[in-house]
Amino acid sequence: MIAVDSGQWRDEFPVKDELIYFNHAAVCPLPRRTAAAICRIAEEYRDLGSWDYVHTLEVVRRGRERLADMIAARPHEVAYVKNTTSGLLLAAESIPWRDGDNVVVAEIEFPANVYPWLNLRRRNVEVRIVNPRNRLLHLDDYRAACDARTRAIAVSQVQYSTGQRMNLPALAQMAREHSAYLVVDAIQGLGALRTEVGEIGADILAADGHKWLLSAEGCGLLYVSDRIIGDLEDHWRGWMSVPEPLDFAVCDQPARPDAGRFEEGTPNVLGAAALDASVGLLLEVGLSEVERRVLGLTDRLIEGLQRIGCSIASPLEPAARSGIVCFEHPRLDADEAVELLQRHCVAAASRLGLVRLSPHFYNDEDEVDRALEALQAGSC
Ligand SMILES: Cc1ncc(COP(=O)(O)O)c(C=O)c1O
Repeated sequence: MIAVDSGQWRDEFPVKDELIYFNHAAVCPLPRRTAAAICRIAEEYRDLGSWDYVHTLEVVRRGRERLADMIAARPHEVAYVKNTTSGLLLAAESIPWRDGDNVVVAEIEFPANVYPWLNLRRRNVEVRIVNPRNRLLHLDDYRAACDARTRAIAVSQVQYSTGQRMNLPALAQMAREHSAYLVVDAIQGLGALRTEVGEIGADILAADGHKWLLSAEGCGLLYVSDRIIGDLEDHWRGWMSVPEPLDFAVCDQPARPDAGRFEEGTPNVLGAAALDASVGLLLEVGLSEVERRVLGLTDRLIEGLQRIGCSIASPLEPAARSGIVCFEHPRLDADEAVELLQRHCVAAASRLGLVRLSPHFYNDEDEVDRALEALQAGSC
């Protein structure tokens, strides 16, 4: 593993010439190699169509292996999906619900992790809502919401509106005690925080590539553990969900006994090429090193924000920290503070009345200090 000096990766991120980009929790800038990988595949299609399709598809296979590697899963436990929502919809619709079962989900989840569960009301599944206290979620409130009819706990690895990193091992344990599944929306964690599915205890996990994974929009991953794939309903069988998709004349094949059953048709090859390149970069840097850098930058941000009188809404205890820092400015409302930052070429976001900053590993301390200076200018 290479020790990270953010300068070493600077050339991968042309965005640094233009902006202080602290908005990875929204949509990331593409690394140079990722943009090049997309162009390369586009040129192959431009010049050859499907002449060398077997070779073209190699990137899909390699990308899946890298994704599996990144989360310490096996490649057949990983399917490409078009976004987080589609992964969560597949999860919600595949769980074998019985009349009167319930799913536990927090009120402040991003809507991508709410609608798939609300849809289940038509199947007489109860949606049990966990409310935050002072914007943060507490394990006790999840525990109180679970009972013998709980079939799933659905949760973000990191909450988009506060940056709270959830205690997934504890939630996994709670799910197991109720014979329920732990379904994780991982888009705000994967790529910033080292994530091993065995360690966090996820049964199902979904994320698109366009935030911390540093990839393009519209191609992400769905992880389905081998432990539970056999429990899931086979309701999404397309021509590519089966063991021999090229046996075009045979249409009575069963679904594949792995996550590949959720890849119902032709893959998004350009998206897979982008993920392959970006995940390759993250693996090259080292996932622990990426996490160390990200948390080092958010530490510095929190310290500096407190010094200039901002009130931090994100949790401060190390175990609940992530790449997201949310705060209130002493004088400006969140939209005004984001505008002020924009005037200083700092990309930030305003979410639920808070300013949200989300640096990645290639950002540096100098950028943090310049963003703080901009905010301080607005304090007086
Ligand atoms: C927690 C969370 N889940 C999901 C999404 C997006 O879902 P999708 O990839 O389906 O667009 C976002 C942000 O846009 C998010 O913050």
